[in-house]
Amino acid sequence: MSRFCRITGTGSCLPPRRLSNADLAVELAAQGIETSDEWIVERTGIRARHFVDAGVGSSDLAAQAARQALAAAGRQAQEVDLIIVATSTPDMVFPSTATMVQHKLGIAGCPAFDVQAVCSGFVYALTVADAMIRAGSVQTALVIGAEVFSRILDFKDRTTCVLFGDGAGAVVLEAADQPGILATDIHADGKHRDILCVPGHVSGGSVLGDPVLKMDGQAVFKLAVGVLEDTARASLAKAGLQDTDIDWLIPHQANIRIMQSTARKLKMPLDKVVVTVDQHGNTSAASIPLALDVAVRDGRIQPGQILMLEGVGGGFTWGSVLLKY
Ligand code: UT7
Repeated sequence: MSRFCRITGTGSCLPPRRLSNADLAVELAAQGIETSDEWIVERTGIRARHFVDAGVGSSDLAAQAARQALAAAGRQAQEVDLIIVATSTPDMVFPSTATMVQHKLGIAGCPAFDVQAVCSGFVYALTVADAMIRAGSVQTALVIGAEVFSRILDFKDRTTCVLFGDGAGAVVLEAADQPGILATDIHADGKHRDILCVPGHVSGGSVLGDPVLKMDGQAVFKLAVGVLEDTARASLAKAGLQDTDIDWLIPHQANIRIMQSTARKLKMPLDKVVVTVDQHGNTSAASIPLALDVAVRDGRIQPGQILMLEGVGGGFTWGSVLLKY
């Protein structure tokens, strides 16, 4: 009998400090940086984002999201036999954020590791967990996207600092007789590594290079709209489905204009796209599981529906996961 896997619970965590565009504009104006709610809404669809307070790391948000996902799945932490955290903002260089989450959940022994594929990280992590479950070595996995991008933003660069937020989303993935995950499709092309990066690194006890986010927004935008359609079509083809079979599109939440363009290309009305970028900003690897959890909890996503999850980001990386919820 074939072995598959399915999502049995979702959870999320947003830090309590919420900044509207107007709040952020006031903070930036105090440093001589000019922006406005109008510009941010018109160019991105973002209206607010959440930022962590000092001392809170990705592992704290991830552990909270994981506890919620476990509760939704009706599972105890002790039943988890794999933890993957997708993050580009780990608590420290090493050990992995996943091992910190494991400890915060009060468990030990199961493998725990991070996946670093920037905004495509959650789709990459789901792909890895799906393969490990189908191979038979894992029964119950926690797959988490968690970020504190506020730590790597340059608040003197208005072209990037208004775009990102902090948060975490998690799913419990369990072995099943029926899919579940129908198809996965992940890619990277390192020749575009410089258009979205944090070039700083630790060397000889110091940080060398600039440890803040740099982005060529227009180059990222152009690449994103092309690859998001390609990867969605690739997953559909692998599963033998059509774009008309998708009930909900849950894209990486970077810019409402990218999401609108992808929806148009997939012939999907915008009310079938889960949009949280307006309230969360771009939370990188956390954005897809955060959006998924919002739409599961508000009752839009129902068991048996077909979901297309897709991400794109630094690397350049991109990919999609097609699943039956
Ligand atoms: O998660 C990874 C994926 N990342 C993305 O998907 C991001 C993709 N890129 C984008 O979303 C868009 O390119 C941005 C939102 C980053 C920028 O939008 P844009 O329409 O490409 O704007 P632009 O960079 O062409 O800037 C237009 C103008 C410039 O002024 P001038 O040169 O025309 O006078 C900028 O200086 O807007 C100005 N500007 C701002 N004005 C007010 C840039 N940032 C701001 C700002 N507030 N925050």
